[in-house]
Amino acid sequence: MADTLLIETRAIARRDPRNGQFLLHPADFSLRQGERVTLTGPSGSGKSVFMRALALLDPLDGGAVHWQGRPVSRSKVPAYRRHIAYLRQRPALLDGTVQENLRYPFGLHVYRGMQYDPDKALGLLAAAGRDAQALLDRQAGDLSGGEAQIVALARTLQLNPQVLLLDEPTASLDPDSALAVEALISRWLEDDPAGRATLWISHDPAQARRVGTRHIAMQSGGRLTAECAP
Ligand SMILES: Nc1ncnc2c1ncn2[C@@H]1O[C@H](COP(=O)(O)OP(=O)(O)OP(=O)(O)O)[C@@H](O)[C@H]1O
Ligand SMILES: [Mg+2]
Repeated sequence: MADTLLIETRAIARRDPRNGQFLLHPADFSLRQGERVTLTGPSGSGKSVFMRALALLDPLDGGAVHWQGRPVSRSKVPAYRRHIAYLRQRPALLDGTVQENLRYPFGLHVYRGMQYDPDKALGLLAAAGRDAQALLDRQAGDLSGGEAQIVALARTLQLNPQVLLLDEPTASLDPDSALAVEALISRWLEDDPAGRATLWISHDPAQARRVGTRHIAMQSGGRLTAECAP
């Protein structure tokens, strides 16, 4: 059913372990099926801290994250991570070919039961405007920053997440590569427009208007503001 609540945070907070000051003031946020939310704000304001907290990558200092109406308990974190995918600004690829990188997650316990589908991987790379077949055999370490970003994104998308948490996925890319990444994500969204959702951190207001239907902001000092113009 469309419009279902996917992620909801209730007063999630992060503190600086050295001095106890808030890195993220208690933040309420919700993401529904079909939503495309953008998050903007000055450098150092706490956008990545918030997104990492949302992905339960760092321990919270208060509050809770709910998935489809239920709090994500410690034992449910691996299942939660199957539904939501956090994409780092700087992609972390393994030594080896692009194909080996794309195949890698399927060997992980959390993705047991899923199988690598070379055609799907090729389709994702091609959707980003790449010569997919040629890219598969390249060494990951030889890729440009833009190519590595696209491979990391394709690696994530083939795992069918329901939510993409995108931390400045195009910040270091040339305009054409940025548009290719946007195209790849919008293609993924179109496969299930009522079911999937994105939260996208961007410093580019024009991009935020292109990729978002709702806009929120982080104020300096880690205070989340509910609605804003991009
Ligand atoms: N684990 C940590 N311990 C202490 N301080 C931290 C920690 N993680 C982040 N910070 C601090 O929190 C603040 C917010 O960092 P964050 O990475 O969220 O900024 P940002 O809004 O994502 O900035 P940018 O746009 O440059 O990526 C920064 O001052 C950073 O140094
Ligand atoms: Mg950041």
